[in-house]
Formats: sequence, C-alpha cells, structure tokens
Amino acid sequence: MSSTLTDTAPRFLADYRPADFTINTVDLTINLDDTCSQVISELTIKRQGDNQQALQLNGEQLTLVSLALDNHALSNDQYQLNDTILTIPASSLPDNENFTLSITTEINPQENTALEGLFKSGDAFCTQCEAEGFRRISYYLDRPDVMATFTTKVIADKSLYPYLLSNGNKVDSGDLTDNKHFVTWHDPYPKPCYLFALVAGDFDLLENSFTTASGREVALEIFVDKGNLAKAKHAMVSLQKSMKWDEETFGLEYDLDIYMIVAVDFFNMGAMENKGLNVFNSKYVLADSQCATDSDYFNIEAVIAHEYFHNWTGNRVTCRDWFQLSLKEGLTVFRDQQFSAQMHSSAVTRIQNVRLLRSQQFAEDAGPMAHPIRPEKVLEMNNFYTLTVYEKGSEVIRMLHTLIGVEKFRKGMDLYFARFDGMAVTCDDFINAMSDASGKDLSQFKLWYSQSGTPVIKVQESFEQQTNIYTLTLSQHSPVTKKQQDPQALHIPIKIELISGNNDKANQSELLELNQAEQSWQFSGFIGKPTLAMLCDFSAPVKLVFEQNDVDLLTIMKKANNSFCRWDAGQKLLMSYVQQLAFDTEHPLPKELLMAINEMLTSAGDRAFIAEQLSLPSFDEAASLMVDVEPIALSNALSKLSSFIAQGCQQELLASYEACQQERSTNDTPHSGVANRALKNVCLAYLSILPKYQALVTEQYQHATDNEDIEQENMTDSLAALTCSAKHNLADLNQQLQHFEKKWHQTTLVMDKWFALNAGVVSDDIFSRLDTLLAHQQFSLNNPNRARSLIGAFAMNNPKYFHCQTGRGYQFLSKQIAKLNEINPQVASRLITPLIQYKSFAPAHQKLMKAELVNLQALANLSNDLKEKLDAALSD
Ligand code: TRP
Ligand code: ZN
Repeated sequence: MSSTLTDTAPRFLADYRPADFTINTVDLTINLDDTCSQVISELTIKRQGDNQQALQLNGEQLTLVSLALDNHALSNDQYQLNDTILTIPASSLPDNENFTLSITTEINPQENTALEGLFKSGDAFCTQCEAEGFRRISYYLDRPDVMATFTTKVIADKSLYPYLLSNGNKVDSGDLTDNKHFVTWHDPYPKPCYLFALVAGDFDLLENSFTTASGREVALEIFVDKGNLAKAKHAMVSLQKSMKWDEETFGLEYDLDIYMIVAVDFFNMGAMENKGLNVFNSKYVLADSQCATDSDYFNIEAVIAHEYFHNWTGNRVTCRDWFQLSLKEGLTVFRDQQFSAQMHSSAVTRIQNVRLLRSQQFAEDAGPMAHPIRPEKVLEMNNFYTLTVYEKGSEVIRMLHTLIGVEKFRKGMDLYFARFDGMAVTCDDFINAMSDASGKDLSQFKLWYSQSGTPVIKVQESFEQQTNIYTLTLSQHSPVTKKQQDPQALHIPIKIELISGNNDKANQSELLELNQAEQSWQFSGFIGKPTLAMLCDFSAPVKLVFEQNDVDLLTIMKKANNSFCRWDAGQKLLMSYVQQLAFDTEHPLPKELLMAINEMLTSAGDRAFIAEQLSLPSFDEAASLMVDVEPIALSNALSKLSSFIAQGCQQELLASYEACQQERSTNDTPHSGVANRALKNVCLAYLSILPKYQALVTEQYQHATDNEDIEQENMTDSLAALTCSAKHNLADLNQQLQHFEKKWHQTTLVMDKWFALNAGVVSDDIFSRLDTLLAHQQFSLNNPNRARSLIGAFAMNNPKYFHCQTGRGYQFLSKQIAKLNEINPQVASRLITPLIQYKSFAPAHQKLMKAELVNLQALANLSNDLKEKLDAALSD
C-alpha cells in the first residue's frame, strides 16, 4: 500500500548525525505464510557514547506481537508505537551499554503490491529492502550506516518451497513438523539491512562455478522459474565474465563461497545486489535467441555485471546515508559501462550511453525534480534512484578517470578499498582517496556533487592568418534555478581534436581543463584554420553552444580519429534539419545530406557504428535540445526527414539491407551478427516508409517469426519488422500482432514486448486499442513490467498520440497513475516523468499536462512518492 500519511517531512543531507545506537548482530527467524508471516528478530544493540537518547526503530505496516529487552517482556507502557516508529525511552532501557532486544512481528506478503519488504512474486516469496524496505519486515535502525552480521533461519512448507535462501553461507537445515522445513544462513560480512534478502520457492537451478585468481572455488547458482533453465545460460556466462573482469581490471575478487541469483517476474527495478543473493527482474536474466533481442542480451550482461560489481562498490564499502547513493551507483554504472565497452564495441557502447544521458538525464536535470548527483533534500528515497544519480554520476566518475588517467584511477580505487573496506562512507571520502592517490587537487571538482543542471559551454574560435595561431575560447555556465541561485564554475575535462586543413598534418588531440568561467587556449603550426572536433568521447556531461557549419561537420565526420566525434557531427547535422523542419515544414533539404548518408552506408566500418550514424536523434533527444517544443511539429519533422532520406537513398538502403541479410548465415563473430542485424533493421525502418518496399517487412517478419527452421527464427528481426508495421500502420499489422500473440502468449517477457508494440501503434484508433489492451486477460497493473510495457511504452514511444492536441494521451497516463498510486507507488512515480516535464513543451500542451498534475495532486491517499514530484512540478 501507499506510504503512510504521517511521514511527510523531508530529510536533509545537512542534518546527518551518526546513530546513537549500533546493532552488532541480527538473528532472524522467519516463518513464511502467505497472509501472516511471523518474523522474530533478536538484536544485540550497543549505545554509542554516554547519551540518554531513546531507541527509535523504524517500522511500517507491521503488527507487533511481542517485545522483550534482555529476555524480559516489555509492557505497552514501556514503549510507544506509531505508524512508522517504535520508541523505547531511555527510562525503559538498561543501564549497561549493551543489551538485546527481541521483537516478534507479523506481516502480510500476499497483500504487498508495493513490492517493498517481503512480497510474493507468483508462487515464490521474495524481498526487496533497498532503500528503506527492511522496516516493512521488522522494526530496525533502517539506515545504511548501521551495519550488523545477520543470521537468518527461514521456515516454510517443504513441498511448496523446496528452496529457502538468504545471504551468506548455509549453516544448518532440517525438517520440522507439519511438512515444514528450515534452512539457516549466516553472512559473516557486517552489512546494512538494505542488503538483506530472503527467497523461498520452487525453481529450476543452473549451477556452475568460478575459481578466483587466488584459487578459491565459488559456487554459482541461478534460480529461475521451472522450465526456464536453458534461458539462464547467458546470465551465467555473463556472471563469469564479470568476475574475471573485476579481477583483471581492479584486482577485486569475490569474497563468499557462493553467489546466487534469483529471477522473479514481479520487481520494481532491474535487479538488486543483496549480499551473496542477488534478486533480478527476470527480464535481466532470461534469454534465448528465439525470444530475446540483441539488446536484451547486451542488457542482461550489463545488469549482471552491475550487480556483481556492487559486491565491492556498494557492499564491502557502502554508503553512510542515502544522500550518498551515487557513491555506489555512479561508480558501479561507470564500472559496468567500462566492462560493456570492453566486451563489445567501445565506440557503439559509448554512443548508447550518451544517447541515454542526453535524451533522459538532460531532461530530468532541466525539470522540476533536478537535483545534484548527491541530493540535499529527500522526501521519498525511492524517487532518487534517478538517471542523474546513476548516469550523470557515472559521467562524473568518468571525468575523474579522464583527468587523472587510468593508472592513477586504479591507485585511487586501491586506496579507497584499503581505507574504507567494511565501512559506510561518503562521496567526499571517495574523492579524497582519488586525490591522495593521484596527487591531483580535486577540490573544485567536488562541485559536481553539489550543483545540478547541465552546464552549457560556449565555444568561440579565431584564427590569425599572419601568425597561423588558432585561439579557442570556452566559457561555461550552469543553469540558475530557485534552488541554485549562484552556480560556480566547474572543473571540466574537455578533450578536443584539431583537424588540419591540409592532409599532411596528423590531427592534434588535447585534453583541456576548463576550470574558470572563461578560458582561452592557443595552438600553432596550422596552415589555415583547423576544424575543431569538440568533446571527444563525450568527455563531460555538458551541452555545447557551437555554431559549426555543414562543411565543418562533414569534415569531422570524415576525418576525426575519435569515433564519438564522427558520430556526433552526423547527429548534429541531422538535428539541424530536424529543427528547421519543426519550424518550417517546407524547409528545403539539401542533396549533400543524401550524399553523406550514402557515404556512411557504403563505408567499410563496423556496421553497428554505421547503424548508429544512420539513426536519427530520438524524439526525446531532439526535444532536450529545443525550447517550447511543439511535439506534433517535432514528430512530423522527424518523419519528414526520414522520408527524405528513404526517398533519396533507397537504392543504397536496399543494397545495404541485402548485404547484411546475405551475411546472416556466415557470421564470423557474434558481434558481426549483432552488427548486421542493427544496420539491416535501420535500413528496413527507412525502406518501410516507401510503399514499394513494404513487402520486405512482411517477408522479414515471417522469416524471423514463422520459420520451418526454428534456428532461423530471431527476435531482433521479428520485433524490428513489427515495429515498422506499427509505426506506419501497415496493412499486415493486425494480422502480425495476432500471430505474434498466439505464438508467444505463454512467454511473459515476450508478451511484454507485444504490449509495448501495441502501445506504439501510430494510428488514430490508438485509444480504443489501449482500452482493449487494458482489458486484456494478461494485463495487470500489479505486475510492474506489464504496467511499464503498456503505459510507459505509450507515453515514451508514441509521441504523436501521447501529445495529441485533445489531451487524451495525458489523460490516459494520469488515469493509470491514479490507479497505480494505490497499488505500487514506486512504479506510479516513475511513470509520471513525462508529465512533470511539462515546461519543456509549448503553452497549449503545458496547460493540458498541468491540468492532469493538478488532478493527481488532489488524490486521496496520495503516496509520498507522487506527492514529492507533484509538489515540485506544480510549485516550479
Ligand atoms: N541497487 C539497485 C541497483 O542498482 C537498485 C534497486 C533495485 C532499487 N531495486 C530497487 C532501488 C528498489 C530502489 C528500490 O542496481
Ligand atoms: Zn546499482
């Protein structure tokens, strides 16, 4: 259910105080039952220093059964209880500084649709404690700087729940009466309660092992729903690759004898790094080539790596308080991005990171919920698992890596672990370790942790013909907001490449450190003005104001060594036409653009990279670069530009499509298979605009989905074809959707794709389609993946109808959010994102969106999750 109404006071970073008590050991006995699970918690507690504070434990939605101090029952006049806190006044506590507290509580997992604390996913029990879910399991000091060793005895029916899992090592097990059994687990590493986990159920188990660099054998176990064993192989290989990579890159070994992963269908987020027992959204575990796309495979590997890497960056060294979340998340995202870049194409991986950042994080940082990567004020912590904390947080670590270099970065990591292993620390602690190990002054760099908003860098160039001196002047400013009146100049690494006009001179690469409001650099030795390729590898999360003409952009596309810059110049060129078309639908488009596209298509490079070059900026990427966005005009501009390219380059698109198609059967590396499909499907997306090529869509759909040779079936190709049908509402669309549903109706994760496809249909009957989908027997708002695949996909991937002039798209979203507010506030709060960013749109749309926000704000039982966002959006 929604958060309690009594707890509506925000918390501030500035108010942090160490706890008055620590908990050294936790002994849990959990007797599982669908509607009434019993939790007995025995805590050994120690008062810190000689204060006279009361002991205040967090607890929500718990039924207190009994309470005893040093084995003496407490009567109800010896403690106070409200909806969120159990208070034991100093007068009820013993004089000695150490004491034990025994608490028995009851909870109802079946009714727990918020999926925080102990809940049921299908037939299995499982838990989610980060950030503050443990307080829904038992009364506790639910804060990350309270670290204890946990021993957990799980009791449940033996036939229904043959596997009983928790953190650490199995130390005991046995049978009990009434067909019950128990397993006891002990985790030797002290940890905050947010890393606690429990799972009970019947699963298929994939087993393997890993031998660490120092020769210890670690058992690897992946638990999946019965019948899915073959789909866990890719996750297992990904885990082994991650373990090896962390040893080789950072010298970090795994520390327990067992590492377990459980895949569940009901989960609010991607996955959770509980010590020794990760719980995953099944979407980030299960894959085979028939039912998963290439990007599913990529994402599974990345999320497995992310959670594994948390064992050091998050678990062994954890956060002092939740304001420090980016300490573990930004760093761990950086680590998983580096891993992915090494496992695949580093150029394409980087481009995809940047696309996500620019399309989503920039919008968040410009909206009402903008916050520094280390937030300063929080009402509902779940609202701060954001693109800013994760993705911008990773960019901040990457800048540090760029500024000090790979070797000193490694020295800094070593020092960080040497200093802080087993502790709960701050972002400042991390930066100080990096500074001490590298000798670099990072005091100004720390501002990245306290300032919000995307900095804007203005670029000015001049060239003096007599002296051949090229001068580059950069100025920076961060946005001023109500919460941020006086932003300071940041320390920003700017990597550039100067491309000489004459071919004899190699490009000159430089790392500039911009740390003032305005700075100039001079370069000599050029004959004629060089062309500037700015922000190589996207060396900083900033926006550029830099008027580069088409000739310069084309030069960069051809001659820059840095692949990111080559791609980015192409995107900038495309974006300039999108902007012009959004303003004037008849804006003429030049032949040179077609020539540039043809050149890309026929170049010999990595096809996955070419696919990225050919892809237009997404609606969101384009919107984040514009003001007062007219969404319909923008969506029409994107369509118009695609049509122009499809028309003008049809021969070359078809030739590339066919070349990729032919090589399908002769892939020499897994990457070339992925790359071929990526390019082929970008070509298909263009070709499907033109009626004469639409038969290709049908052909590809059938080949990939309905093939006599099942080995030939492929979800990437199948979905790509369907997406074309949905986007252009092709004649075969409805038949294909029915066929796909019939084929996959028993496969949950594929049905999520089907719902998302339906929600993306570009057709005037979309709202009646959405109503039919809501009533579909497989639709349920209680399953977060399903809710996101219908509601999220409509709001994010169908801009033409989400933003339609009648406001029906906005109404649809707000109506579903109102229902989700009662069921699962975390999911409701994530899905509201496109509405709270209303200020980036033109006034007529703002008005319609705002009206929905006002309606939502008036809901009875409004959760803190939504309240925090609505208040921010409407007071902005
Ligand atoms: N720590 C998790 C991660 O990075 C995030 C997470 C998983 C989470 N489940 C959650 C955060 C539920 C809040 C609520 O990868
Ligand atoms: Zn994480």
